[in-house]
Amino acid sequence: MKTLSLIAQKGGTGKTTLAIHLAVQAQRDGLEVLLVDTDPQGSAGAWWQRRGAEEPALVQGSGTEMAGILAAAGARGFELVIVDTAPHSSEQSHACARASDAVLIPTRPAILDLDAIGATTALVADLSVPAEIVLNACPPPTRAQEPRIVAEAREALSAYAVPVCPVAVSHRVAYSHALIDGRAVVELEAKGKAAAEIDALWRTLRERVAL
Ligand SMILES: Nc1ncnc2c1ncn2[C@@H]1O[C@H](COP(=O)(O)OP(=O)(O)OP(=O)(O)O)[C@@H](O)[C@H]1O
Ligand SMILES: [Mg+2]
Repeated sequence: MKTLSLIAQKGGTGKTTLAIHLAVQAQRDGLEVLLVDTDPQGSAGAWWQRRGAEEPALVQGSGTEMAGILAAAGARGFELVIVDTAPHSSEQSHACARASDAVLIPTRPAILDLDAIGATTALVADLSVPAEIVLNACPPPTRAQEPRIVAEAREALSAYAVPVCPVAVSHRVAYSHALIDGRAVVELEAKGKAAAEIDALWRTLRERVAL
């Protein structure tokens, strides 16, 4: 069993959106997936309630309960655990990251988000857990070329020890539309651009983290 945590000290960077989408994608890929909602706001839990389906499975808990949650998940035969975390809670995020096999740090490409990322990369600096930054809610590429703001964000992020994922996730209304009724973008529009990006992100993570 492997565990992937999504952490970012800044709010609204896409932790929940990406945790949900990666969970659905991994499940479609044939894995037994458990989504763990450790955010007291319970956004992933609310999505799961709206979804009304058994899969991917979801439990709520806290970062400090992670050892017990993971032991129970292993005993139940889950192959992948994806942990959604709360913003502004370094202790809880650190506990989740420490218990994980890999950490994904979503950030928007805007300067205020990039300025804030040091607080998150510092959380994983003392851990031997591989981490990767993913740019989320980016302007969509034009003719397969990355927009300037995305290229600039990559350059700014090269100052940190944490690598940046080659796949950037675009800002697309499909994400909010899908989440409204408990779906993921691939279930809304299987051949859409958002679904293709999530598939690319999942395949990249799967390889890098040997998920
Ligand atoms: N790629 C995207 N395209 C369009 N909208 C997005 C995208 N990613 C996130 N959003 C929207 O941005 C908002 C914040 O996203 P989300 O809740 O996933 O962030 P978060 O990091 O989990 O926030 P919090 O820190 O409050 O838990 C939501 O309304 C979500 O629908
Ligand atoms: Mg969230």
